[in-house]
Amino acid sequence: IFSTLKEVLDRARDGKYAVGAFNINNMEIAKAIGGAAKEERSPVILATSPSAIKYAGIEYIYEIARVTAAKSGVPTVLHLDHGTTFEDCVKCIRHGWSSVMFDGSKLPLEENIRQTAEIVRIAHAAGVSVEAELGRLAGVEGHVSVAERDAIFTNPDEAKLFVERTGVDALAVAIGTSHGAYKFKGEAVLDFERLEKIERLVNIPIVLHGASGVPKDVLEKAAKYGARLPGAAGVPDEAIRKAISLGVAKINIDTDIRLAMTAAIRQVLAEHPEEFDPRKIMGPAEDAMKAVAKGKMQLFGSSGRA
Ligand code: G3H
Ligand code: 13P
Ligand code: NA
Ligand code: ZN
Repeated sequence: IFSTLKEVLDRARDGKYAVGAFNINNMEIAKAIGGAAKEERSPVILATSPSAIKYAGIEYIYEIARVTAAKSGVPTVLHLDHGTTFEDCVKCIRHGWSSVMFDGSKLPLEENIRQTAEIVRIAHAAGVSVEAELGRLAGVEGHVSVAERDAIFTNPDEAKLFVERTGVDALAVAIGTSHGAYKFKGEAVLDFERLEKIERLVNIPIVLHGASGVPKDVLEKAAKYGARLPGAAGVPDEAIRKAISLGVAKINIDTDIRLAMTAAIRQVLAEHPEEFDPRKIMGPAEDAMKAVAKGKMQLFGSSGRA
């Protein structure tokens, strides 16, 4: 029922587009992403973090993803996002996930290689793809020194060694993006030179985490209805296009979907204080998330590829 990450990303790499990995936590988010993929005829990755699995329950989230894939009719990957333990990964492999991310980026290099290689062996034996991560996805101040960047961002030579020794199917890199709604203090600066070097040395699809755009219009809508998110900033669309042109084939989006959802919920509650039917509150939020996901699929070039 699910495509593997490898199938979907190898095709994307050949076609020079990227596939969005959208975090899902409940039915409405999954329906929004699946609906967007269907309308855009786009392959899609449904990403579940360990905390999403804990929140929804593993059987619920699996079934929600299964029905989403069946209804959309497009190639759909069910992917564990940021698994940090052997148990996280094995549990998802056993429950029918088609892809797992083992995030050993906080481990020393040798230990990251050792643990990732062990998970690759088990996952591949079960027909499941593996994504790994190298480098730290830390927020860094505007203009960082070369030494600072070398200490935090992915080292291209290490990336080559890492991929050769682990056999992973996709590699997440650190080039200046970070998770959440506060990515940059000033101008958004990404280390494209580093990305280019990595792409030259590594023969697998590259993954960009922390890639939400945190768009002004959504922030303004959220603020208008009571949200307080001063200083929120994301990755500009232009930087996303450039990253794709340099070999990024999977782009992770969570924050933009969260922002669209909460802005829409706030609007309904602010404009209709008498409303307490959850369907009247969550329905518009689903529509807003779907619109954001469709926009991402167009930006990433995955529209029309399913
Ligand atoms: O990178 C993390 C994703 O945004 C998921 O976040 O662990 O709060 O579900 P979460
Ligand atoms: P954002 O917080 O930029 O949406 O990134 C999400 C992500 O990388 C999930 O793994
Ligand atoms: Na991931
Ligand atoms: Zn991430």
